[in-house]
Amino acid sequence: MEKILDLISHKMAQAFADAGYDASFGRVTVSNRPDLCEYQCNGALAAAKTYKCAPIKIANAVVEQLDASDYDLVEAVMPGFINLKVSGAFLQKYLEEMRGADSFGIDKLGAGKTIVVDYGGPNVAKPLHIGHLRSAIIGESLKRLYKFFGYNAIGDIHLGDWGLQMGLIIAELRERQPDLPYFDPDYTGEYPAEPPFTISELEEIYPTASAKKKEDASFAEKAHTATFELQQGRPGYRAIWKHILNISVADLKRNYDNLNVHFESWLGESDADPYIPAMIADMKQKNLLVESEGAWVMPVAEKSDKKEVPPCILVKSDGASIYATTDLATMVQRMQDFHPDKILYLTDKRQALHFEQVFRAARKAEIVTPETELEHVGFGTMNGTDGKPFKTRDGGVMRLEQLVKDMTDFVRTKVEENQIVAAEEVEATTKKIAMAALKYGDLSNQPTKDYIFDLDRFAAFEGNTGPYILYTIVRIKSILAKYGEWKHLPILAPVNDSQKDLMRAITKFAPTMENALKSSAPNLICAYIYELAGAVNKFYHETRILGEEDEGKKAGYIAAIGLAKDILETCIHLLGFEAPERM
Ligand code: ARG
Repeated sequence: MEKILDLISHKMAQAFADAGYDASFGRVTVSNRPDLCEYQCNGALAAAKTYKCAPIKIANAVVEQLDASDYDLVEAVMPGFINLKVSGAFLQKYLEEMRGADSFGIDKLGAGKTIVVDYGGPNVAKPLHIGHLRSAIIGESLKRLYKFFGYNAIGDIHLGDWGLQMGLIIAELRERQPDLPYFDPDYTGEYPAEPPFTISELEEIYPTASAKKKEDASFAEKAHTATFELQQGRPGYRAIWKHILNISVADLKRNYDNLNVHFESWLGESDADPYIPAMIADMKQKNLLVESEGAWVMPVAEKSDKKEVPPCILVKSDGASIYATTDLATMVQRMQDFHPDKILYLTDKRQALHFEQVFRAARKAEIVTPETELEHVGFGTMNGTDGKPFKTRDGGVMRLEQLVKDMTDFVRTKVEENQIVAAEEVEATTKKIAMAALKYGDLSNQPTKDYIFDLDRFAAFEGNTGPYILYTIVRIKSILAKYGEWKHLPILAPVNDSQKDLMRAITKFAPTMENALKSSAPNLICAYIYELAGAVNKFYHETRILGEEDEGKKAGYIAAIGLAKDILETCIHLLGFEAPERM
């Protein structure tokens, strides 16, 4: 379905043509003088130069050709602007069509296309901390948005399951329990099915080992050796690694489920390993690699670089592969398995250079086709109210689980104090509000910007917050429930200004979603629903809806807010949260 501006522009272009001028002058924009009109066309000014006559003459002639029933206002003003306000009948027809169309009439830009969204990126055996929150929240939202536009969108968690942290755990475990069969090189039996540690032990082992590595050079050496041997396939180490993976993945699933974040693919860095030897051989054969102090690197600098882009290291001097190597090998695997049209990565923006190097290397080595789009969305830091990176009260790294719990506890107190719902609904309602607070608080910021995590502000029921949006949806739901069957009601032309504003806000849905998609910006969806919710509430305050005596008018009101509700719910689904029944 045509976006509203395109539709108005087409009508304008036709009017230019009918008046004897070139149709290309008919481009309409949103008015920059909302006090005067809703839309405007400045084409007559440009046309005047071509046709060498007064712009106002052209504007007047064009206005003559427009279908008056489409506009409440259509006028040519000096020196040659055309000002427009759309009519109620026009809005009625447009919204009726939107409501009946699949996905409210957006263009399915992704039909037949595949995208891999690489987000989450947790590291096995390390607890999720708040640094992982943004990748999960923004990634989930963008993936949902791509799906909404018809893409086959594959969310891949890309577990960090292959690096030194694995060697560290193995080395530390070996010091603690040297007699376990995993460490006996001559052992040929089956390894125990039960892991030699629990998730909480694992989460203690890793930081201990990591601290030890810094002080104890011989321990660091052991960890490096263990990493290398694991990667070479030493059976006992593989068996321990499997245990670590199983325990961690179960824990991660629980955590991500809790955030309503779901991945289609649970592959990790280790799954890329089998693709590395052939990939490196191919790069060498294409003469793309040079040896540098025993390591193999790919120069990726370009003449136009403003900042230095160092070569991409692929094989370290000890033969081990690193972050860039697994990322490239993962691309080999993804191209082979999914033939994606696009791969989108979400990480902290401090990884921007890494992805620049990796993308260049991938193109040089022809791992992807020239058409394959590669995009990195680098997001900013989540800070505390002191403006510094968010920490626990004692200065430690905040666990994601703790953050979610803090938010949930905070919201639960409000829900209980305000006696919002019956006792048995408190938990479910609390969870929905807490999710909205957390996610909207994050997503309403432009991804690249740092932002301040503020429990109080995010959880407020008023202002630009997730709970405010939920509150608006719940308010509409309650009116609809009181009204009764509403889905079949016809959309009617607006009868007052706030109804018209509401209906006009609804028409912005498709262009906003498209912009959000094209600029990887869920914050645009947030800004949109904040505007739409505002329009709903203004309409609600200025209009007696259920009290309206004229049944026809009332039906028109109900149909309009019903459509607004459906759109708001679609949007919050795209942001990754949902509304309760009562609030
Ligand atoms: N595990 C990485 C980290 O914690 C993030 C992985 C992001 N994805 C990727 N393909 N590199 O920094």
